[in-house]
Amino acid sequence: METIFSGIQPSGTLTLGNYLGAIKQFVELQDDYDCYFCIVDEHAITVPQDRLKLRQNIKSLAALYLASGINPEKATLFIQSEVPAHTQLGWMLQSIGYVGELERMTQYKDKSKGKEAVSTALLTYPALMAADILLYQTNVVPVGDDQKQHLELTRDLAERFNNRFNDIFTIPEIRIPKVGARIMSLQDPTKKMSKSDENEKGFISMLDDPKKIEKKIKSAVTDSDGIVKYDKENKPGVSNLLTIYSSCTGESIEALEAKYEGKGYGDFKQGVANAVIGVLQPIQEKYAELLESDQLNDILDTGAEKAALTANKTLAKAKKAMGLGRVKKKK
Ligand code: TYM
Repeated sequence: METIFSGIQPSGTLTLGNYLGAIKQFVELQDDYDCYFCIVDEHAITVPQDRLKLRQNIKSLAALYLASGINPEKATLFIQSEVPAHTQLGWMLQSIGYVGELERMTQYKDKSKGKEAVSTALLTYPALMAADILLYQTNVVPVGDDQKQHLELTRDLAERFNNRFNDIFTIPEIRIPKVGARIMSLQDPTKKMSKSDENEKGFISMLDDPKKIEKKIKSAVTDSDGIVKYDKENKPGVSNLLTIYSSCTGESIEALEAKYEGKGYGDFKQGVANAVIGVLQPIQEKYAELLESDQLNDILDTGAEKAALTANKTLAKAKKAMGLGRVKKKK
C-alpha cells in the first residue's frame, strides 16, 4: 500500500479553504493509502504564538480532523512536536538546502514582507516540511495549490540527499484536488482565503454557525452582471462561489450554471450558503462531542507512537548515510 502524508498548522481555526483543499481529500483517500495526518505545531511557531492559544488550537485541530471523518483505525493522527525525528531530520536537510532557494519561496516572501523581525525558522520552514514528508517514505502528498512550491523543494532536497549520500528517500508526488485547490477570499476573490485574514468577512471558519455563514456568503463580493457563470478572470467572485458550491455538493460547475440560469445572485448565494452549512454543520456537532473526550488524547498518544516507529527507522538510515553519530555494535 502506498503512503500518504499531509499536515495542517494549528494557527487558528481552520477555514473552509483548509477543508475543501485539504481535509476533504484526506477523508476520501484514507481507505486506499497508509495515511499519516499531522498537526504541525512546530510550523506554527515560525510566527509568534500565544502559548495557551496554541495549546487550544492543537486540540481543536485534532478534534476537527476526526469530526471531518478521519478514522483513527485507518489513519495515523499525531502532533509533530511529539515525534522528535521531525526536527532532527529537518536540521539535517537544512544542511543541504541553500539560502537562495529558501528565499525564493513565495510564502516566505509574503509572510516576511514589511516585518522588521523575521524569525530564522520562517525561512528554514520548508526544510522541516520536507522532513515531515520524507520520514514516512511518502508517495503522495495531498495539499492545496499554495503548497506546490514547498513540495517541489521537498523533491529537490530528497533527490539531492539521495545523490549525495545514499538512496534513502522516496520522492513524493503532489496531489491537488480538481475543484477546490485554491478557495479565494469572499471579500477579495483575487486573494487566497486565509485564517490570518484581518477581515473576518473574507473567510468562513469551519466553526462559524449557520447564521454567520449565511451572512458572510450573502456579503461576498460578486459583480454587476447578474449571471451565474464560471469565468475566473472576469468574474472571480462568482467563480469562487461556484467552486465552493461544487466542491461542497459534488455537483459539476456546468450543472450549477444551468440550475441558476435566469436567476439572480440572491438565489444563488442562498444555494451556496445551504451547501456550505450542509457540509459544516454535521462536522461542528461531532467536534463539540470530541473536544473534551478522553478518546482524543488516546488517539493522539497511539498516533505519536505509531508515527515515531516509522520516522525513527528513516531517521536512523539518514543519519548513517550522512555519517552522524557512531556505528553501534550489536550486543
Ligand atoms: P496550512 O496549515 O497553511 O494549510 C493546510 C492545508 O490547507 C490548504 N489550504 C487551502 N486549500 C484551498 N484553498 C485555500 N484557500 C487554502 N488555504 C489552505 C493548504 O494547501 C494545506 O494543504 N506548510 C503547510 C503545512 C505542512 C505540510 C507538511 C503539508 C507542514 N508540513 C507536510 C503537507 C505535508 C501549511 O502551512 O499548510
